[in-house]
Amino acid sequence: MKITVLTGAGVSAESGIKTFRDSNGLWEGHDVMEVASPEGFKRNPEAVLDFYNQRRRQLLTVQPNAAHCALAELEKTHDVTIITQNVDDLHERAGSTKVIHLHGELLKVRSTFDEDLILDWREDLNLGDFCEHNHQLRPHIVWFGEMVPMIETATEVVEQADAVLIIGTSMQVYPAAGLVQYAKPNAQIYFVDPKPSISESKRITVFAEKASIGVPKVVELLK
Ligand code: APR
Repeated sequence: MKITVLTGAGVSAESGIKTFRDSNGLWEGHDVMEVASPEGFKRNPEAVLDFYNQRRRQLLTVQPNAAHCALAELEKTHDVTIITQNVDDLHERAGSTKVIHLHGELLKVRSTFDEDLILDWREDLNLGDFCEHNHQLRPHIVWFGEMVPMIETATEVVEQADAVLIIGTSMQVYPAAGLVQYAKPNAQIYFVDPKPSISESKRITVFAEKASIGVPKVVELLK
């Protein structure tokens, strides 16, 4: 069976990474539009780099939780592809092998001159860190107002799924939130979130609980 998993910030919450919309539009104390938009980066590149440096340092101190691990386990019995809005690497560290990052990756940076010039990066990124063409490097993150290059691949993956799991997302950010509409009419949908934004129906089974509790239950059901 082909299973597509759509994850958002909630799947990593219990690893200690804050979600975006659970704290009044502030993200770790910052205005999201200032730290996650091309305009914000133009206005104050140092502050934006510093913000992602803090996120990157924090990521290197946290661990995958039971939800990430249960999803990795599901690969033993099914063909699983994860489409995540998260920029962390916790799915990969838990052992998932097919992960599509819709909004980029914190442990990568790219050239502001050539967006296909992408490098692995685990250190702080500072003004003056240049690509081989002598242009400033920036976080490999999809900011508000930017294109989502992986959306077509992600749409095709959802279209092929026999079951879709949606975990820990407020379903407020497009195009990610629209992906579920591409699921086959007979694909069963499971939604795990303590404050679910979708209600239960014949097609949709809702687990209104934390990912570490709900995801292992869904995985057990699907095994
Ligand atoms: N387990 C599961 N879900 C949880 C948990 C948990 N322990 N804790 C919180 N949640 C849920 C919340 O109820 C909420 O529905 O996670 C969701 C988090 O929502 P958002 O903060 O809006 O995160 P997300 O949907 O991933 O945001 C989408 O917005 O800022 C952008 O690019 C950023 O990828 C991000 C996008």
